[in-house]
Amino acid sequence: MRLSVDDDAGWGPAESVVLARELKAVGVDVIDCSAGGILARPVSSTPIGYGYQVPFAQKLREEAGIKTMAVGLIVHHDQAERILSEGRADLVALAREMLHNPNWAVDAACKFGLDGYAMTPPAAGWWLQKRVASVPNLATSTSRPTGLVV
Ligand SMILES: Cc1cc2nc3c(=O)[nH]c(=O)nc-3n(C[C@H](O)[C@H](O)[C@H](O)COP(=O)(O)O)c2cc1C
Repeated sequence: MRLSVDDDAGWGPAESVVLARELKAVGVDVIDCSAGGILARPVSSTPIGYGYQVPFAQKLREEAGIKTMAVGLIVHHDQAERILSEGRADLVALAREMLHNPNWAVDAACKFGLDGYAMTPPAAGWWLQKRVASVPNLATSTSRPTGLVV
């Protein structure tokens, strides 16, 4: 279930924790923790920046004992992984970053050293694997090699 955990409609994280406990009791498994949707205005008490809505997922997870999904400017593969490994949320979801880069999951898998191209259609995957083999660290590197001539 998705909640606007924080909103300027007289509703905030404290109220959301109470609701999350009730939702867990009636069988809701996971809460997707967004903000500012009740009055259709994008508001949040946390400053807009990387992971700005993650604190809401963390709070509901800790205080309501329910699984949560974090959103809000989750952009980088290692940022997403850290949110999970630090136990701040059980799932992460990306919206605008996926509009910017629809192949984000493939890219993230490659940067983790996994076979991201297994997710692409075989005809494209074959070429992408070949491309990786032609340049060292192409798929896993997050920075440009020095001395690169373009
Ligand atoms: C095109 C688009 C449509 C969205 N539609 C909804 C929606 O219907 N309901 C909702 O609660 N949030 C909606 N959102 C908000 C996102 O689910 C998400 O909470 C928010 O964009 C923050 O994550 P992001 O920084 O990864 O985009 C939408 C976002 C985008 C970009």
